[in-house]
Amino acid sequence: MPSYDQINTVPGWFTFQSFCVWRAFLEEQATITGDLFEIGVWKGRSASMLAGYRKGDEKLILCDRGLDEREICESIRRTGTEPQNLVFIEAFSIDLPARLDLKAMHHTVRWCHIDGEHTGTAVYREMELANQIVSPNGLLVIDDFFSPRYPANTTEVIRYLEKNPHHFRLVAVAFNKAYLCRPESVPRYMDFLAAGMARSMRRYGWKATIFKTTGPWDMDAVGIEEFVDAAGIQVGPDDNPQYWHMIQQRHIWSPWLHVSRFLKRTLRR
Ligand SMILES: C[S@@+](CC[C@H](N)C(=O)[O-])C[C@H]1O[C@@H](n2cnc3c(N)ncnc32)[C@H](O)[C@@H]1O
Repeated sequence: MPSYDQINTVPGWFTFQSFCVWRAFLEEQATITGDLFEIGVWKGRSASMLAGYRKGDEKLILCDRGLDEREICESIRRTGTEPQNLVFIEAFSIDLPARLDLKAMHHTVRWCHIDGEHTGTAVYREMELANQIVSPNGLLVIDDFFSPRYPANTTEVIRYLEKNPHHFRLVAVAFNKAYLCRPESVPRYMDFLAAGMARSMRRYGWKATIFKTTGPWDMDAVGIEEFVDAAGIQVGPDDNPQYWHMIQQRHIWSPWLHVSRFLKRTLRR
């Protein structure tokens, strides 16, 4: 698997924090198979990460309106992975339905990263495509979510989700990216976010805070940010920080949270 230092040899926008989040999710997907797909490749920085996690005969399908195949293969090689089973599609994403064998690709993709045009119309159409190809246990990752620079990226994702509540659910927002899964996979990914994510990220050298400020009764998603001392590694809603609200409440194991709450209570007396 590529290290961040290796990924960092490839120009692009993929950050260390996203590297950690992707690594955690991609390792969580170790037991499932499916192709990997990216719209918006540039020089192959995030694609190199995906190439490192491609297994067996899975394909890595890369689409960009302008592709330098040789340069992308070179990038992947620099990150310690031999480029294999790559499918390059030089096209505008709007033309993908005409370029792909959608019948053969139906629900076969376990990782779909949308990082192309960043306009509302493009993102909406790319989500329509993702709905055809992402597998029941796959993840859809959308770049520049909540980015003030691309407001339509957020509004159109939300519009899509509202119009198609049974296609995808938002499970996490982390460092400019939205992570969505199929509704039936929410328990799987939510369980991982509650139980394994923080531990995985610390192993990769990054301490984050995972906020679960809401529950299944509304937008059940998790927010991941830089570590906040007062919050700890995992924190629940503002008025109930020791609980991670799932279908059943899950207690958050956080000695620091307990000590700080105890001190606050004692000092208030
Ligand atoms: C932000 S860059 C991608 C960054 C890359 N994922 C990385 O990790 O560095 C956006 C890419 O999307 C491509 N692009 C923009 N509009 C597109 C479209 N409509 N269809 C396909 N690719 C597009 C651009 O050519 C550019 O390479």
